Amino acid sequence: MSLRDFIEQARQAGYLVEIHREVSPRLELARVAAALDGRPVLFHRVTGSKFPVIVGAGSAREYYVRALGVSADRLLPTLANALEHPRPPEIVESGACQQIVESDVGPSTSLGAGLGCLPILTHLPTDPAPYITAGVAVIRDADYGCNVSFHRLMVTGPRTVVARIVEGRGTDTAWRKTQDGLPVAICVGNSLPVLLAASMSPPKGVDELGIANAMQPTPLVQCKTVDLQVPAESEFVLEGHITHQLADEGPFLDLTETMDFVRQQPVVVIDCITHRRDAIYQALLPGKLEHKLLMGMPKEPTIFAAVSKVCECRDVVITPGGTSWLHAVVSIVKRDPEDGRRAIEAAFAGHGSLKHVVVVDDDINVHDPAQVEWAIATRFQADHDLIVLAGQPGSSLDPSATHAPGQKARTAKMGLDATIPWGANRKEYEKMGYEKVDAREYLNAGQSLDR
Ligand SMILES: Cc1cc2nc3c(=O)[nH]c(=O)nc-3n(C[C@H](O)[C@H](O)[C@H](O)COP(=O)(O)O)c2cc1C
Repeated sequence: MSLRDFIEQARQAGYLVEIHREVSPRLELARVAAALDGRPVLFHRVTGSKFPVIVGAGSAREYYVRALGVSADRLLPTLANALEHPRPPEIVESGACQQIVESDVGPSTSLGAGLGCLPILTHLPTDPAPYITAGVAVIRDADYGCNVSFHRLMVTGPRTVVARIVEGRGTDTAWRKTQDGLPVAICVGNSLPVLLAASMSPPKGVDELGIANAMQPTPLVQCKTVDLQVPAESEFVLEGHITHQLADEGPFLDLTETMDFVRQQPVVVIDCITHRRDAIYQALLPGKLEHKLLMGMPKEPTIFAAVSKVCECRDVVITPGGTSWLHAVVSIVKRDPEDGRRAIEAAFAGHGSLKHVVVVDDDINVHDPAQVEWAIATRFQADHDLIVLAGQPGSSLDPSATHAPGQKARTAKMGLDATIPWGANRKEYEKMGYEKVDAREYLNAGQSLDR
């Protein structure tokens, strides 16, 4: 289901918010979308651009469930299956993303041309420039083939952006192998499977577009000016090169809702823009629910797979309170005294940026923070059940980690084994309940429980 099919489905089902009043892409649009966080919002009239803007298409788990046509409890297995069994996409002759080809993007000195035609948002008054936030970059690594990932793009001219490219990941390693720059196609306005696949870090050599295609058919079309293939159903494609020229990128609000600092990052030159005739521009609010879900949710299947190698894993959630990146809860069926500890170690292996993990038994609903805290309160003793690891490789997004330019951040990690102690009488650890009655039967006639 393309992005526009998803929007139509949301409209039909009544959960799309449509704003017809004109809004400015400078600060105003982001503020309105933030106030409606958790809903897909379509802005029909955006000052200075003919293109409408969609924000929040992926801002609730339920939207992925609907877009993939699965039940809520099949979401994690569906992602895990696509990650494990990618399917090469079909290559088609022509794609809607190329209905209009604007090959003369510049050179121009004003932002009125090229990228200036797009309704690119400025999110906060402190932002140094407008930012493209929902751009999915397709590149080809000389050794490993196609790689697809998100890169926020700071717009510095009608055909130039500065890309935040996290060190050591797919785009970075491919770019470092080149001398004249790395060809890139940045797709904006993507289906939910493409957004999910772009957020994943499969083993090197696994093409994320094959993962998207395993979730739902994702035909590809050849780009016009670079030798890359992109999802034919995209709304916009920006074709160009990631150069070896560096410029300041940031400061910019990140996933943790704290400001990411300024770094020297690669300049990307755009040579050609293709788009649908009536294209819809997609934006994603940094730090808000869509950003959080897209970061965290694709890590749940990788943690699930890693923990499943050492014991029976039942469920995994990356929790929103932990910035949807740094904290996870894992439930297991404990069959050995060491299963809790093994699950902690495996969870860290399954998601390298994970900082804190709680392991619980399978009677605890990992999605209910109160149940997880109850398990910690009643089943956990810090002097036996806590694992603390010092000086570990950590997330670049954690302001409390130790950061050095060009090096992986360093952090302490903590795992809590909140499973029932081995050999204990399980009955003593089970949550007791009262038998259910209908209290209304005990009230006087006319008496109500409403407050
Ligand atoms: C909404 C969103 C924004 C992201 N922004 C960036 C970014 O600006 N730079 C970056 O390097 N990675 C960013 N990422 C993470 C990459 O998409 C992710 O690391 C990718 O899976 C790396 O995969 P790879 O190891 O296959 O390259 C973002 C992820 C999401 C979900």
